[in-house]
Amino acid sequence: MLFLLVAINLFIYIECQVLYQQPEQVHISIGNNASEMYVSWVTMNDTKNSFVQYGLYSLRDLNLKAVGSSSKFVDGGSQKRTMFIHRVKLTNLKADTVYTYNVGSNSGWSDIFFFKTWRTDPNWSPRFAIYGDMGNSNAQSLARLQQETRKNFYDAILHVGDFAYDMDSDNARVGDQFMRQIESIAAYVPYMTCPGNHEQAYNFSNYRFRFGMPRNGDGESIYYSYDVGPVHIISFSTEVYFYLQYGTQQIRNQFAWLEQDLIKANKNRAERPWIVTMAHRPMYCSNNDNDDCSKYESIIRTGLPYLGYGLEDLFYQYGVDVMIWAHEHSYERLWPIYDRTVCNGSLAQPYIEPGAPIHITTGSAGCRERHDGFIPIQPYMTAFRSDDYGYTRMQFFNSSHAYFEQVSDDKKGEIIDKTWIVKSKHGIYSYADNSGKCKGSLPENP
Ligand SMILES: *[C@@H]1O[C@H](CO)[C@@H](O)[C@H](O)[C@H]1NC(C)=O
Ligand SMILES: *[C@@H]1O[C@H](CO)[C@@H](O)[C@H](O)[C@H]1NC(C)=O
Ligand SMILES: *[C@@H]1O[C@H](CO)[C@@H](O)[C@H](O)[C@H]1NC(C)=O
Ligand SMILES: *[C@@H]1O[C@H](CO)[C@@H](O)[C@H](O)[C@H]1NC(C)=O
Ligand SMILES: *[C@@H]1O[C@H](CO)[C@@H](O)[C@H](O)[C@H]1NC(C)=O
Ligand SMILES: [Fe+2]
Repeated sequence: MLFLLVAINLFIYIECQVLYQQPEQVHISIGNNASEMYVSWVTMNDTKNSFVQYGLYSLRDLNLKAVGSSSKFVDGGSQKRTMFIHRVKLTNLKADTVYTYNVGSNSGWSDIFFFKTWRTDPNWSPRFAIYGDMGNSNAQSLARLQQETRKNFYDAILHVGDFAYDMDSDNARVGDQFMRQIESIAAYVPYMTCPGNHEQAYNFSNYRFRFGMPRNGDGESIYYSYDVGPVHIISFSTEVYFYLQYGTQQIRNQFAWLEQDLIKANKNRAERPWIVTMAHRPMYCSNNDNDDCSKYESIIRTGLPYLGYGLEDLFYQYGVDVMIWAHEHSYERLWPIYDRTVCNGSLAQPYIEPGAPIHITTGSAGCRERHDGFIPIQPYMTAFRSDDYGYTRMQFFNSSHAYFEQVSDDKKGEIIDKTWIVKSKHGIYSYADNSGKCKGSLPENP
């Protein structure tokens, strides 16, 4: 009798043990160059293999198959939830071509998605959507981004840190929900990221496992770079300066890598003239909160006490054109600035041959922490600011012309700010008097 009960129990147990092997949370990012794409997804249980089936969209045939692998991710929360994060690299993709694909294993396949590859040459005009600080609740801009992705507005989406609020919350279930939410955009255009402060739990493990960025930096998506059209984009972590409990070696490693990457990018400037950086916490801002950027000498700009590694001099010295930030839940565009001095360009048009990098902070996609306000008087350095929910569009037309505009989601998609940057030459900022610095220091930020 007892034996029978045990046998029945065992039978029920085996019968009811569900294996969650369906792929979910599919997303893509550019590989080491435009002929490669990383495809990532999650299964809750192990699958023996990780496949991407893909083919030319025009043929409606997934006749190619790429094989990757999965890593077991154990969240740091009390439940130690596990999941399997799959990554497959597609190689030898044809440039400027639409592919269809699905992902999975012999235990289950995803829906079919598609993406268009970038051109490998510099002579095209890539279009970006850019934002930071998008949560899983109150992700106000997401619906508009989904519609625009469907209408082929973008060649890449840049998410400048702070995801989900937070990916580790509720034993990483919030991360799962967020990754499912963005599948509708991130499975169709490369979704390029950098870490923010909301990713810091358990040494950024949810961030490092879930996203698969190019491997030319630290190899774990913390810092890396890539070329797209006439631009070289560098993504890095400002958070290594704030979570010192995870080690200060990363600050040194990242700084050394940034300098090497900038040297390389400058050698290639005839081909890819623009250099753009993206990272989470800005060097400057006019918000009324108590953040690094509201300090006179922000850590990101001038470095850590006793340790240094400030980034403003480095980026100025190597002629970075544009720096993109987030973290403040607002939008702010500055006049060309270096060392708290506005360095407007020629002909008194600030963005015609600007004398210093241009900073844009765009962290208002929408999250449960809502808006960040500004100090009442707009400071001398600020060209435009708004705390509407929204995001930035950026397009590099060619070697001399770049265009930026700000979409207000609160105002139903209205463009509330737009600007051109015009540069006949890129590289080290130079001045008529050979001083190596722009002149005309302005009063301190009130
Ligand atoms: C892209 O990178 C791979 C190595 O990662 C290399 O084999 C391939 O030739 C590169 N393709 C282009 C177009 O540069
Ligand atoms: C499948 O995943 C669930 C949830 O993580 C887990 O409880 C279960 O033990 C797993 N089953 C197997 C056979 O690994
Ligand atoms: C945190 O992660 C980084 C990068 O993976 C690693 O170098 C560092 O040693 C880790 N720190 C701790 C305290 O685990
Ligand atoms: C920079 O240009 C803007 C717009 O033309 C102007 O308001 C500002 O005063 C200029 N700043 C300097 C230092 O020339
Ligand atoms: C670059 O693009 C801008 C904007 O479309 C255009 O006005 C300009 O003529 C272009 N320059 C070159 C050299 O193609
Ligand atoms: Fe932040």
